Amino acid sequence: MFAARAARQTFGLFQKRAFSASSSQLSKVAVLGAAGGIGQPLSLLLKLNPHVTELALYDIRGGPGVAADLSHINTNSTVTGYEPTPTGLSEALKGSEIVLIPAGVPRKPGMTRDDLFNTNASIVRDLAKAVADASPEAKILVISNPVNSTVPIVSEVFKSKGVYNPKRLFGVTTLDVVRASRFISQVKGTDPANEAVPVVGGHSGVTIVPLLSQSNHPSLDGEARDKLVHRIQFGGDEVVKAKDGAGSATLSMAFAGARFAESLLKAAKGEKGVVEPTFVDSPLYKDQGVEFFASRVELGPNGVEKILDVGKLPEYEEKLLEASLDGLKKNIQKGIDFVKANP
Ligand code: NAI
Repeated sequence: MFAARAARQTFGLFQKRAFSASSSQLSKVAVLGAAGGIGQPLSLLLKLNPHVTELALYDIRGGPGVAADLSHINTNSTVTGYEPTPTGLSEALKGSEIVLIPAGVPRKPGMTRDDLFNTNASIVRDLAKAVADASPEAKILVISNPVNSTVPIVSEVFKSKGVYNPKRLFGVTTLDVVRASRFISQVKGTDPANEAVPVVGGHSGVTIVPLLSQSNHPSLDGEARDKLVHRIQFGGDEVVKAKDGAGSATLSMAFAGARFAESLLKAAKGEKGVVEPTFVDSPLYKDQGVEFFASRVELGPNGVEKILDVGKLPEYEEKLLEASLDGLKKNIQKGIDFVKANP
């Protein structure tokens, strides 16, 4: 509480400057889980983003420390840390345009993302309740795994509070897209900046479907293609293994999360044609019982502007998609059932 107040006073000067701008130029971004492995570098990247005018950093421990540290960086945004005091979380959230949620436990070697469900489901449910109460208009970016289940958890909580707007809820799958363009560039010896691979489906194992047929290298096939698809689907395991018990991807995830937040902020300011693959409440496969699906989504001032379909797929990718839909259906139901049983 005290630290939060002190941080606010210290940066009052910057705040004044920010408030002299018109309200449409003000963008408060809150990070829940800001002191964690992802939260810290993500907050650093957001501090460097000129679209962000106010950064609210909440964690069950360590928020004010991270905020004090970042607040010395000479960019124009204010940074305030919040702790789990009775009003800490709601103060962090109030007035936020974007709320990023990387709170929760990461994987250890041998674990799947689904193994995190028991711990992270209740963390995300409780944070979602707070967002629904304090900033129901915010765009929510869910990073905490298993994303395939935590996004439906947020939607159920919002529905139960009567504030659900599917246009404003996003599962962050950007890291799969970042990995796909990097990995294909390594296979082809190209610059990853020129590689774009749409990745659709969900965010774990076989639910991740890279559409190489829509990349710059549609003719990739045989063992090279199979290996690349597998690496994109299970790239996270490489990091979990290399960190040897110390967690999963944090730095590349922070990069991916910051990129997605930046895309939303640009779209909110009226930039047209901003498209990012993301896991959203989607009409594409609802007739097959799949309520949420990641595909390329055009972003706009209200969040989701237009959900793009996956296009015509070759047989190989159709098979991958089938396996993805099957897995997604179960993961999504698990999230919905959790909130029904543990409201
Ligand atoms: P971490 O353990 O380093 O950090 C998590 C932070 O959350 C900690 O600072 C902890 O104090 C905080 N926290 C726990 N409960 C909280 C609560 N109720 N409210 C606020 N903060 C709370 O974990 P890391 O590596 O940052 O990973 C976070 C999550 O992100 C994990 O679930 C991980 O699986 C997921 N992840 C998602 C990716 C994606 O592509 N969507 C990629 C990599 C990780």
